Amino acid sequence: MNSSAASPATMTVVEIPSWGGAELLRSATRPIPTPRGRQLLVEVDAIGVNPVDAKVRAGRYAAAFGEDFPIVLGRDFSGRIAAVGDQVTAWRLGDEVLGTLRMEPRLGCYCSHVLVTDAAMARRPAGVPATTAAALPVAGLTAWQALVECAMVGPGQRVLVHAAAGGVGHLAVQLARYLGAEVIATASARNHDFVRELGAHEVIDYTAVDFETAIDPVDVVIDGVGGEVYDRSLRVLVPGGICVTMPDRPDPAKAEALGVRGVLVFVRPDQVQLEGLAAMVADGRLTVHVDRVVPLADAAEVHREVETGHSRGKQVLLP
Ligand SMILES: NC(=O)c1ccc[n+]([C@@H]2O[C@H](COP(=O)([O-])OP(=O)(O)OC[C@H]3O[C@@H](n4cnc5c(N)ncnc54)[C@H](OP(=O)(O)O)[C@@H]3O)[C@@H](O)[C@H]2O)c1
Repeated sequence: MNSSAASPATMTVVEIPSWGGAELLRSATRPIPTPRGRQLLVEVDAIGVNPVDAKVRAGRYAAAFGEDFPIVLGRDFSGRIAAVGDQVTAWRLGDEVLGTLRMEPRLGCYCSHVLVTDAAMARRPAGVPATTAAALPVAGLTAWQALVECAMVGPGQRVLVHAAAGGVGHLAVQLARYLGAEVIATASARNHDFVRELGAHEVIDYTAVDFETAIDPVDVVIDGVGGEVYDRSLRVLVPGGICVTMPDRPDPAKAEALGVRGVLVFVRPDQVQLEGLAAMVADGRLTVHVDRVVPLADAAEVHREVETGHSRGKQVLLP
C-alpha cells in the first residue's frame, strides 16, 4: 500500500447512533481507515447533501442498512486521493476527484476522510470548485438517467419538470434544454426567476395554479415530488407519454389505465456519465447552484432545511 506520510491518525466524522431525527447527528473522532486491495482513501474537501441522506437517517432504509450503529451518512463528495490499496492502478495520490458512493452501510462520506470501496468517481476538472463538484453526483446522475435512459428525451419534445428549483430539478431543466426539449417547470413564485434563468420556457406557480389545466399535454414529466403530483402528472401526458418519478415506486396500473407510462428512476453510480456531467460543468453547459455551504458539524441544520422540501439547488458541507 502507498500512503501519504503526512496523514493525521484520526479523522472527524458525523454519525448517527440510531435511526431518528436530525438532532441525532453528532460529531466524533475515529481512526483514519487504511485502504486495502482496490480501496481508496479520499481526503474530503466538500460533501454534497441529498434528501436521501435525511431519509436514511430517519430509518427509511433500515432493512437494507441493518442495526450496526454508529452509521456515517453521505454519498456525494469531492476531495483528493490520500492513500490507495495495492491493487489500485487508475488513481494516484493527490488526484482531485468527485464521486458518489453506492448505498453502503455504515461508512458514508460525512467525514474528513472517506474509505472508498465501491463508488463512481471522476477527476475534478480544472476550474470546477470542490463545492460545486460535491453537489453534482446524485442530482446530476438522477436528472441524466431520468431524461436520457428512462424517457429518451429528444429535440422538440415537451418536458414538464416538477420541483424545478430543487437539487435534481434545477439540473433536469438545463439538461432537458440541452437535449433540445421545450421545458415547462413548476416552482413557487419566489423561484421563478431562478428557474427561468436555468432555461425553462414556461414556469407554473404550483401554489396558485393547477398545472393540469394550465399547460398543454407534454411528452415527458420529470417528477421530484411524487404522491398526488405524480397521479395528476399522468393526466397531462400525451398518449404513450412517460412520467419518470423519483420519490417512490409508482403503481404501474395507474399509468397503464390512462394509456401512459409511469416509472421510477433509481439513480445508479455511473463513472462515464459522471465524467460527462463534470465536463459539462467545466465548460459551462451545466450550472450547479450551490445554495449553502456550511460546516459538517452543522449537518443537522442542513438536514432540517432539506426536510422542509423547499430548499433551492444544492447544500454542501465542509469537513
Ligand atoms: N429515486 C432516486 O434515485 C432519487 C434520486 C434523487 C432524488 N430522489 C428523490 O427525489 C426527490 C427530489 O429530490 P431533490 O434532491 O431534487 O429534492 P429537493 O432539492 O429537496 O427539492 C426541493 C424543491 O422541491 C420543490 N417543491 C416542493 N414541493 C413542490 C410541488 N408540490 N411542486 C413543485 N415543486 C415543489 C421546492 O420548490 P419551492 O420551494 O418553489 O416550493 C424545492 O425547490 C426527493 O424525494 C429525493 O429523495 C430520488
